[in-house]
Amino acid sequence: MQISEKKEWGSFAKRCAREAGALIQRMLEKPLEVMYKSSAADLVTSVDRAVEKYIMDSILNVYPGHGILGEEGLFARDVTGYDAVWVIDPIDGTTNFVHQKLNYCISIAFFYQGICQAAVVYDPTRDEMFYAEKDGGAYLNDVRLKPPHHLHMEESLLASSIFWNKKAIDCGLAEKIQELAQCSRGMRVLGVAALELAYVAAGRLDGYVSMSLNSWDYAAGKLLIEEAGGIVTRMDGTSIPFTEKTSILAANPGIHQKMLEFIKEDRV
Ligand code: IPD
Ligand code: CA
Ligand code: CA
Repeated sequence: MQISEKKEWGSFAKRCAREAGALIQRMLEKPLEVMYKSSAADLVTSVDRAVEKYIMDSILNVYPGHGILGEEGLFARDVTGYDAVWVIDPIDGTTNFVHQKLNYCISIAFFYQGICQAAVVYDPTRDEMFYAEKDGGAYLNDVRLKPPHHLHMEESLLASSIFWNKKAIDCGLAEKIQELAQCSRGMRVLGVAALELAYVAAGRLDGYVSMSLNSWDYAAGKLLIEEAGGIVTRMDGTSIPFTEKTSILAANPGIHQKMLEFIKEDRV
């Protein structure tokens, strides 16, 4: 694969995310249509679907032979047979989007033969574009992110979204993460996995722990962190297979191992 191809995919992803952000702002001028998925805490809006459709049509217009794995499942085909796959969350943080019209993002990751080549997490309300290219670094609004200082646990700021995850509560992990907060400068709960991962890449957070994330929640953030010099694994320390639903432990290299040891158990 040519470096120029990677750049082209990356530029395309940035353009798509920016256009999707503009579409969201336009759609917000009218009342939101909010629907329940599995429960009253699991929301989707007409904007999520419109944005996924917009990104999907844009991709297929330029790359008709590519596959797409999106949260709303509008590309109704199995992506296993495709070399080139786009993994997209049209709006990550839908609950924030509905309640706050803030703290949500668009997440787009491009995979070639199972390896993430380019990734974008875009926060339209703050106009912040987090971008990474495989072996090409991570950027925030075109400024390269600096490699992280190796931190100690007691000087780190953490985030997690496991506190309302039934599996995490049942296996005692939620309590364990609460304890972890006491070894650090504290725990933030932003409710937007892709942006929390982008913040770990940018050093605004030093660690993020979650369970049951889908690939559209973490794929772009994972490349951002790795290209910025951080570490992303499952909660048992193993690597994350392409498109698998998984737990996530993403952190500054100074505290990743410490966090692993603290959590310790076999919770994938
Ligand atoms: C959710 C958010 C949330 C995380 C959930 C995700 P959605 O995505 O990223 O922070 O805890 O696991 O499903 O539904 O807002 O796209
Ligand atoms: Ca999501
Ligand atoms: Ca979503």
